[in-house]
Amino acid sequence: MGRLLVTGGAGFIGTNFVRLLVDSTDHTVTVLDAMTYAGNANSLADLPANRCRLVIGSVSDAELVDSLVAESDIVVHFAAESHNDNSLRDPSPFIQTNLVGTYVLLEAVRKYGTRYHHISTDEVYGDLELDDPARFTENTPYNPSSPYSSTKAGSDLLVRAWVRSFGVQATISNCSNNYGPYQHIEKFIPRQITNVIDGVRPKLYGAGLNVRDWIHVTDHNLAVLRILEAGRLGETYLIGADGELGNKTVIELILQLMDQPVDAYDHVNDRAGHDMRYAIDSTKLRTELGWEPTYGDFESGLAATIDWYRANEDWWRPVKQATEAKYAAAGQ
Ligand code: NAD
Ligand code: DAU
Repeated sequence: MGRLLVTGGAGFIGTNFVRLLVDSTDHTVTVLDAMTYAGNANSLADLPANRCRLVIGSVSDAELVDSLVAESDIVVHFAAESHNDNSLRDPSPFIQTNLVGTYVLLEAVRKYGTRYHHISTDEVYGDLELDDPARFTENTPYNPSSPYSSTKAGSDLLVRAWVRSFGVQATISNCSNNYGPYQHIEKFIPRQITNVIDGVRPKLYGAGLNVRDWIHVTDHNLAVLRILEAGRLGETYLIGADGELGNKTVIELILQLMDQPVDAYDHVNDRAGHDMRYAIDSTKLRTELGWEPTYGDFESGLAATIDWYRANEDWWRPVKQATEAKYAAAGQ
């Protein structure tokens, strides 16, 4: 049994990770979360207090981070400013949390010799053309496009440098687009689901040809657990489930699953610098660590996600109006 420090555990993927740990392992969990607009304490409220403790604070707070790392066996670092559109409006918290916060954590795990896993994104590799047969691998050069993805790329490079220069015991994973329960409704899939629930037409950026490589959040987290168990220190693992789909197709599927006409959506302003396509080749993770996705069928995973948002309106309703106001101001 180990003591895990999970940063960003009140956000989307972190919450699902903490719930998986409590359900399927004996680990005890301390969540360090700044409770920004993206954190929600209700997501963890039903977990037993002897298995999960929530500490409210920032990963950039060196004194706090030092004291929490000192009492942990493993650190899994999810905390980040995570939304591309927000990074285009104001990059400053992305610099502070994603770069400075990672630096602070690395200094603490270096001091205590603590095992560290760094959660990152496929966006560090930039984007691919629609007709390019290539997919991202662990050897693809970094080429991030947005303030968000550039800070994630920078944080990955800090981890690599701390491994090489100081022998920090770290692994990195870069995952594709996650979907599932507890995702903030600013993101593409839950924004459209909650729009349809509200009788509002879904909003597609530009022509909607952009492709994302969808993976269920549980499959992402099972891969992270597998890397913690058997991943080689200093290595990077790409996580993806062969889930490439165009945005237009995803919106049409949401409308169909929610019994609406499939063309009942609006085209809105495109995102500046909008990445066209992400695609992950996860051969290394599959062959070396034996991981396979368990949610093979996107349509049934999406249907279950729609059911979750229908059943958990109390969880998202309080932030719907403010989220949509931000989009409306940008013509989106
Ligand atoms: P999220 O925005 O839902 O959650 C982020 C969490 O971090 C929130 O609870 C927030 O309060 C917390 N946080 C923000 N700043 C903090 C700070 N300074 N100190 C402590 N906590 C802070 O994000 P998510 O979608 O769950 O993403 C989690 C991680 O996974 C991020 O590192 C992201 O880059 C990465 N990732 C996300 C996806 C995806 O599809 N969502 C895919 C690949 C990788
Ligand atoms: O690839 C992994 C990344 O996936 C993570 O690193 C990020 O943290 C996560 O937010 C996600 O980034 P994206 O920018 O791909 O996700 P988002 O949900 O914002 O948008 C998905 C696609 O849908 C993208 O092409 C933009 C488009 N979109 C988004 C919104 C919110 C729309 O067409 N309409 C919308 O209303």
